[in-house]
Amino acid sequence: MGVGRVFVKDESCRLGLPAFKALGASWAVHRTLAEQAANGEEPAPLTLVTATDGNHGRAVAHMARRLGQRAHVFVPQGVHPRAVAAIVAEQAKVTEVPGPYDDAVCLAAEAANAPDAVLVQDTAWPGYERIPGWTVEGYSTLCAEIDEQLTAEGVAEGPDLVSIPVGVGSLAQAVVTHYRSRPTGHAPALLSVEPEAAACVLESLTRGEPVSVTTGETAMVGLNCGTPSSIAWPYLRAGLDAAVAVADADSARAAGDLATAGVSSGPCGAATLAGLRTMLTGIGAEERRTALGLGPSSVVVLLSTEGTAANPHATTDH
Ligand SMILES: Cc1ncc(COP(=O)(O)O)c(C=O)c1O
Repeated sequence: MGVGRVFVKDESCRLGLPAFKALGASWAVHRTLAEQAANGEEPAPLTLVTATDGNHGRAVAHMARRLGQRAHVFVPQGVHPRAVAAIVAEQAKVTEVPGPYDDAVCLAAEAANAPDAVLVQDTAWPGYERIPGWTVEGYSTLCAEIDEQLTAEGVAEGPDLVSIPVGVGSLAQAVVTHYRSRPTGHAPALLSVEPEAAACVLESLTRGEPVSVTTGETAMVGLNCGTPSSIAWPYLRAGLDAAVAVADADSARAAGDLATAGVSSGPCGAATLAGLRTMLTGIGAEERRTALGLGPSSVVVLLSTEGTAANPHATTDH
């Protein structure tokens, strides 16, 4: 692809789970419980309520089980039965919703109005922004590790481009915050990658305002979200350099290539390689390469946010 080195941030094993999501869920759950304790409230078990395409809900359920709390997870259509089973195995109550992710989020928010329940969501909307903000803070660990790990590889100045898989944009918010708030130094170009079936951030950037899109089916299940997070949107608009949507077949091919290179990468994680390829090959590639400031010695980081074990679609696709 005409760049120097491509590194993969491998999130196939994070806190015992096969996706990066536990970074955000653990911090959001910790802050939520710490706040209750600080309020002097009886530490009676809470029900942590959430909606998920798979990974976030599993991470919330995992944290609830480890911390002696309960979890109630709303799962939209299109999530593989084995992904649902993984949430049930964390002893969570699961409600399957006959609709898309955005509907599951609404139902979870309603259910969280019950006594002793709290919504731990990884996306925000006006009036519900604090806990999703903690989730984003949790993701920042991943960026700090990239800096450390690249320094160890002799790339102390950091990457020239980071390719980010985007669902509601909370992870991308963390990445933008990290790379755009450093007082000095080299700022990488930031590329958002979404499935063609759910490109709400690409559509919002094109229109210049946050919009919801009607989502379809995709193997990139964790990215199958129709509405950008309200707190992420200002960061995405100001901080992303490029956005692209990729097809399932492109992500499947990328997952195969990463597997050949020894990296376990599910469809969402491999989307970042597919997105990079779309940007840097084919008609207009030279213009895009120049616009992103990339050359033959550039360093690229792909965020591979899930292993094949996170998403049963991955094992059936290959
Ligand atoms: C594996 C994986 N990668 C990336 C994302 C995208 O994160 P966000 O929804 O914060 O954009 C998700 C979200 O669920 C995910 O599960």
